[in-house]
Amino acid sequence: MRGTGARFITLEGGEGAGKSTHIRYLAEHLRGLGIEVVTTREPGGSPGAEVIRKLLVEGPSEAWDATAEALLMFAARRDLLVHTIWPALRQGQWVISDRFADSTRAYQGYGHGLALAEIETLYRLAVGDFVPDFTVILDLPVETGLKRAATRAGSENRFERFGTDFHQRVREGFRQIAAAEPARCVLIDADAPLDTVRARVLQAVRDRLGV
Ligand code: TYD
Repeated sequence: MRGTGARFITLEGGEGAGKSTHIRYLAEHLRGLGIEVVTTREPGGSPGAEVIRKLLVEGPSEAWDATAEALLMFAARRDLLVHTIWPALRQGQWVISDRFADSTRAYQGYGHGLALAEIETLYRLAVGDFVPDFTVILDLPVETGLKRAATRAGSENRFERFGTDFHQRVREGFRQIAAAEPARCVLIDADAPLDTVRARVLQAVRDRLGV
């Protein structure tokens, strides 16, 4: 699956955690070291998955139940793996993804209450035994994140309308994932100035991946 040295890194976290900004910083940093980097996002990132993304993020919050949402997320993920992530890794490029399966665990699992065992069944079907080499989870208070998300350009997505309790469960879910898988995940306090969080992310990548 991976060419020599290629790594798959995922950034995770709730709404307004700053994932896309920190992916940009991290990609710039790695490129500065001479590493070829492909960045992508979920849901979406490949032509087929972007079509599915539109179904997921537009429309009323009740448009899909948790199971349908999870199935669509994994359909989009499969397409992204087949068309973008796996080909890049095979060529030795590093891939950084804005969200991956931990978002399904946190949002559809902890947030909506879908059984985590069912999510793992879907994972095995769609992804197999492929897992990220390293996952950065950006953690910040729900109110701060939702406020940040509300002020950025673009219309609010379906998920921002689920209410504070939902997003609280999502945050708790991410924290539990980080605690359960310390070898893969690092939880970073993102309730700090951008430069501070940037330094924390780069330090974590340095510690884990040696770059
Ligand atoms: P996006 O605009 O990417 O949100 P953000 O900028 O906060 O990352 O919209 C994606 C939304 O989809 C986001 O609210 C989280 C949600 N989501 C899930 O619920 N499950 C998933 O598996 C994924 C990948 C995303």
